[in-house]
Amino acid sequence: MPATETIIRNARLNEAEQISRMTDAYAGKGIMLKRPVESIIEHIRNFFVAEYQGQLIGCCAVAFYSVKLAEIRSLAVVDEFRGRGIGSLLVRKAESVLTEEGVKEVFVLTLSPGFFDKMGYKQIEKEYFPQKIWRDCTNCPKLMACDEIAMVRTLNH
Ligand SMILES: CC(C)(COP(=O)(O)OP(=O)(O)OC[C@H]1O[C@@H](n2cnc3c(N)ncnc32)[C@H](O)[C@@H]1OP(=O)(O)O)[C@@H](O)C(=O)NCCC(=O)NCCS
Repeated sequence: MPATETIIRNARLNEAEQISRMTDAYAGKGIMLKRPVESIIEHIRNFFVAEYQGQLIGCCAVAFYSVKLAEIRSLAVVDEFRGRGIGSLLVRKAESVLTEEGVKEVFVLTLSPGFFDKMGYKQIEKEYFPQKIWRDCTNCPKLMACDEIAMVRTLNH
């Protein structure tokens, strides 16, 4: 399955359930945070999907923190399609949209630092992003034992 046959596009509202299933598959294994379908619906305009032969095989979302800072989150590629360049396509699509918006820095909180290292992200202290901690982390059950790694990339304009 060449990545060239995969379309990366904006998600549609009626795909929220499918997106939720893709992220839940990894949330159940503790690799990602669970993303309730209501939250996906609320933020559907910020979601991208990867489509291959009519099937959704990946997703990711962007979240804005300021006019210069954004996060890539809810990145998941269906297990059987991993390792074929789909995750890279999703991240690059999100970055290109963020660049168009004028965003200067994009960060991720991840348990897959090796992948983001390949994508040009550098590890950084989580405290560098107080906005994130204030907005999301305070309600996270893992708050005091957070095992996610913060990584950042500066976007070229
Ligand atoms: C992480 C994930 C999105 C990567 O997507 P993918 O389609 O498998 O990745 P790609 O095929 O685009 O990989 C790009 C490169 O990163 C490497 N890579 C992928 N996952 C990696 C990992 N966990 N550790 C180290 N390197 C990794 C690939 O080998 C590839 O390297 P290459 O260019 O030298 O061949 C996918 O594996 C996934 O859904 N993981 C589970 C959920 C998750 O961890 N999401 C991230 C939450 S922020």
